[in-house]
Amino acid sequence: MAATISFVKFLLIVVLLAVTSRSTTALSNSPSVVKAAYWFEQSIFPASAINSSLYTHIYYAFLVPNNITYELQVSNSTAESLSRFTSSLSTKTPPLKTLLSIGGASSDPAVFAQIASNLISRKNFINSTIEVARNFGFDGLDLDWEFPQNSTEMENLDLLLQDWRNAILNDAKRRSQLPLLLTGAVYFAVDFFLSTTSRPYPVASINNNMDWINVMFYDYHGSWGNDTGPLASLFDPKSNVSTQYGLNSWVQAGLYPNKITMGIPLYGRTWELKDPNVHGFGAPAVGAGPGNGAMAYLQVAEFNRQTGATVVHDVDTVSVYSYSGTSWISYDDDLTVTAKISFAQAFGLRGYFFWAAGFDGNGTISSRASKAWMGDKCKCING
Ligand SMILES: *[C@@H]1O[C@H](CO)[C@@H](O)[C@H](O)[C@H]1NC(C)=O
Ligand SMILES: *[C@@H]1O[C@H](CO)[C@@H](O)[C@H](O)[C@H]1NC(C)=O
Ligand SMILES: *[C@@H]1O[C@H](CO)[C@@H](O)[C@H](O)[C@H]1NC(C)=O
Ligand SMILES: *[C@@H]1O[C@H](CO)[C@@H](O)[C@H](O)[C@H]1NC(C)=O
Ligand SMILES: *[C@@H]1O[C@H](CO)[C@@H](O)[C@H](O)[C@H]1NC(C)=O
Ligand SMILES: *[C@@H]1O[C@H](CO)[C@@H](O)[C@H](O)[C@H]1NC(C)=O
Ligand SMILES: *[C@@H]1O[C@H](CO)[C@@H](O)[C@H](O)[C@H]1NC(C)=O
Ligand SMILES: *[C@@H]1O[C@H](CO)[C@@H](O)[C@H](O)[C@H]1NC(C)=O
Repeated sequence: MAATISFVKFLLIVVLLAVTSRSTTALSNSPSVVKAAYWFEQSIFPASAINSSLYTHIYYAFLVPNNITYELQVSNSTAESLSRFTSSLSTKTPPLKTLLSIGGASSDPAVFAQIASNLISRKNFINSTIEVARNFGFDGLDLDWEFPQNSTEMENLDLLLQDWRNAILNDAKRRSQLPLLLTGAVYFAVDFFLSTTSRPYPVASINNNMDWINVMFYDYHGSWGNDTGPLASLFDPKSNVSTQYGLNSWVQAGLYPNKITMGIPLYGRTWELKDPNVHGFGAPAVGAGPGNGAMAYLQVAEFNRQTGATVVHDVDTVSVYSYSGTSWISYDDDLTVTAKISFAQAFGLRGYFFWAAGFDGNGTISSRASKAWMGDKCKCING
């Protein structure tokens, strides 16, 4: 209970510190609030199972460009999956906006580097993305290039975004329809400050050409490291690997806060502790814990129930972890998500997104999040 009281205090502080007046550049068709989730095809959670009152936008993850033609490849089975997705979501009450996400963590970043480097490949790629989005009835496109590797690639990303926005506007004019939305999934900080190759994102181009970006404020720690740590801490008193630091880096670089949605994990990262009696942050670990290093929120909740795991809310970082025996899991729950949403809203962000829909079953966390964001989703310009 002590933790709960501290969280309430924390929320008050966050709201008092709220930054109020923020500049905006609205691209027409852009919603004022985004409550989004990425979804991928899995039989236990079909698109039809998504509760549309919990979100505004759902992302289809992922299509990848062919590495020779640079066009999106749509096999027959993919075509069926895309059609099922857009038709089941756009006909729900309330209807959901759908975006086609291109790339993803397992797609080759070098292919995007090649696409962006050349006028013709940009054109072919962009043409195919718009054609596929329109053919299957999507409302928008999302670039998940993980990640541009150097400053040249960042300059080319700028060109890609300019060309993409122009093509989207031309397409909308030609069809007399609303322009497709254009968003992207990006690194938690603007400049890859942890890498030896500093390479800031083209922030001005993002402001001008994208509706918003989904900032991946997670995967700060995982079983790839030798010790435990928070997966997605809002604050970190000991390091710059935190959402607060990442968010500030974007805004200080000139990105409008309302161009940002806050990424929140609906999963946990797991470790196997070296010594079950040493179980705080920075505890030595010998590898991945249950679920081979990652578990959906639903599985974490089940694991906690079954093992009677100890659950610890850490107020300094705004994070939660649980441990039982040598298993150690960092994740987000209803309390941390509520705190993060208040922070996001106080900061003037556009909204939030989850990786991934279905990881909280029928939406226990998504429902808390949606309620925590004050104000109605139907304030959005486009209904
Ligand atoms: C292109 O993709 C194919 C299939 O994934 C792969 O076998 C091939 O090595 C790739 N070629 C290049 C140039 O990356
Ligand atoms: C894909 O669908 C098209 C049209 O429905 C059909 O002509 C073609 O044979 C199918 N291809 C495969 C590989 O099933
Ligand atoms: C894509 O290219 C085709 C063939 O040139 C053209 O007919 C179509 O209008 C283009 N689509 C877009 C969205 O630019
Ligand atoms: C950046 O990477 C590209 C490959 O995508 C390479 O051709 C180029 O030389 C690199 N530029 C710099 C400045 O390192
Ligand atoms: C983990 O420990 C091993 C062996 O001590 C070391 O080689 C490796 O660099 C460490 N990894 C990290 C991420 O600290
Ligand atoms: C965090 O970043 C700031 C600059 O933005 C730097 O001065 C500080 O030393 C960094 N702190 C740590 C712990 O790396
Ligand atoms: C989700 O809801 C369905 C129908 O109400 C129910 O059958 C199913 O067990 C629920 N799943 C979870 C994970 O709660
Ligand atoms: C969808 O979510 C809303 C809001 O949390 C809830 O009232 C409703 O019961 C949910 N619908 C289903 C079918 O689970």
